[in-house]
Amino acid sequence: MDKFQTVLAVMEDYAAAHHVPIISREGGRLLHSLAAAAKPTSVLEVGTAIGYSTLLLTAALAPGGQITTIEQNLERIELARTYLTQAGASDQVTILAGDAGLILPEVSGSFDFVFIDAAKGQYLDYLHKIMDKLSPDAVIVADNVLFRGWVLDYGSIVPRRYRTIIKRLRAYLDFVTNDGHFKTTLYHIGDGIAVSHYQGETNI
Ligand SMILES: C[S@@+](CC[C@H](N)C(=O)[O-])C[C@H]1O[C@@H](n2cnc3c(N)ncnc32)[C@H](O)[C@@H]1O
Repeated sequence: MDKFQTVLAVMEDYAAAHHVPIISREGGRLLHSLAAAAKPTSVLEVGTAIGYSTLLLTAALAPGGQITTIEQNLERIELARTYLTQAGASDQVTILAGDAGLILPEVSGSFDFVFIDAAKGQYLDYLHKIMDKLSPDAVIVADNVLFRGWVLDYGSIVPRRYRTIIKRLRAYLDFVTNDGHFKTTLYHIGDGIAVSHYQGETNI
């Protein structure tokens, strides 16, 4: 196994042992293949955790490409830095520490690939804060959009503590499906992954 695969395996073990919710293996394969097809130069990730999906994304960057990733849990940030360094990928990644809702309006630059995987009730807020930073043809991937199947299951009773999240994830899917800025495909893998292709301001 090469260094990249070894570090990914160590991260998977750590995540399983410490209940860190990283993307599923199948979801990770989809994320990587979407990014590899896009060959992005500038990636924005919302929700680093220990850097597992970040490391997957580094392998899909165009030469010289960079990832900006946001995480509020300082312990996870430390681990992410350690793992990314071990994998030899730390030069390609900038981790911003803090609440994504506050950091996103301050992030400058434009992004051709975005991975949204932080607070599930905030996806639409994140997207609104990112819209003016999307390059034409940007790809936006959002994980866990089906939230245990409840998001598309209008017949079952959702536990009270998840109702706001479900309502907001429905609002996210409704927006990326019906707003003319995006063409969206929903993948029923892992906990549901929405892949939205930005149509740009002028292509609507
Ligand atoms: C599902 S995990 C990310 C997993 C990672 N993308 C992966 O697949 O390897 C979600 C992460 O988002 C972080 N998070 C939750 N709310 C956040 C917020 N408002 N701002 C920044 N990070 C947040 C959590 O601390 C957690 O580590």
